[in-house]
Amino acid sequence: MSSKNLDFGNFAQDVMVGLSSSPKTLPSKYFYDAKGDKLFQKIMDLPEYYLTRKEFEIFEKQFEKILQPILNLGQSFNLVELGAGDGLKTKILLRHLLHKKADFEYFPIDFSGSVLNELKHSISLEFPDLNVTCIEDTYRGSLLRRSWENGKPSLILFLGSNIGNFGLEEAFDILDHLRIGATHGDFVLIGIDLKKNPETILSAYHDSKGITSEFNLNLLERINKELKGDFDLDTFMHWPSYDPVSGECRSHLVSMKEQTVNIKDLDQSFFFEAFEPIFTEISKKYSLLEIEQLGQRGGFKTIQNFTDDTNYFADVLWRRL
Ligand code: AVJ
Repeated sequence: MSSKNLDFGNFAQDVMVGLSSSPKTLPSKYFYDAKGDKLFQKIMDLPEYYLTRKEFEIFEKQFEKILQPILNLGQSFNLVELGAGDGLKTKILLRHLLHKKADFEYFPIDFSGSVLNELKHSISLEFPDLNVTCIEDTYRGSLLRRSWENGKPSLILFLGSNIGNFGLEEAFDILDHLRIGATHGDFVLIGIDLKKNPETILSAYHDSKGITSEFNLNLLERINKELKGDFDLDTFMHWPSYDPVSGECRSHLVSMKEQTVNIKDLDQSFFFEAFEPIFTEISKKYSLLEIEQLGQRGGFKTIQNFTDDTNYFADVLWRRL
């Protein structure tokens, strides 16, 4: 568990604010404790969860073109990754860069300490000579602190449709931070899930094995464990919905009965009406045109769109103006 996390103290506060709001909410970044990390690994293996496989395909088939612009600079650079996770896709890039004898340092950033430890270990096994500096931080925190800053250009990876966890206004704010974290001429590779058949999208968040449900409910389990809550997980139902207009897939936990939940560490109880939802996660989808506009709004120029054969997913290379 990442109790040494800089933002850890905010968990109690964020739960307090979220459950006192109307409608009730809980921030999705708290999915990722040790158990949540494992559940997300299982999600990536689900037949319905196409995102990871499609992005992996893009990397496998197009890594040379993706890396050409940063390699063309012909100088030492930083490879920075926001929300690095298990690094499976990034390792494709690392292999190629090392093969090309590129001079670079890798800075994986993640909110989860357990994820970073595993990543560091697996990278040291496969790439023992690679210079790796792990950063345990939030997106915004790391982009403001820019601890990789050394005067060299950077390629910043923001993969896995992690930007989708923000609504449009908040995505703009993240982009503003990205512009601060990058300097003039830096590259950003952003991976975004594309708008597609609504059924395909909804199934990815409503899998038949119920893993996504477990993942969502883990938020309540985490409150029980870390804040001495008494949520009865059997009385809450995972409920995702997809709006093809906004491209927002929104996940909820619905209280299936009227009940009061006590959270000891907050010294507070929360009343739930029957069928009252807690909004837990947004996974926003974009069209390619919307991604281009997103980049423009953020002060980035689109260098190239990389998509998979089905046009399910896009990795877009931007350059900071
Ligand atoms: C890791 C944020 C990209 O939104 O698709 C998977 C998390 N939530 N299933 C996503 C998630 C439910 C995932 N991201």
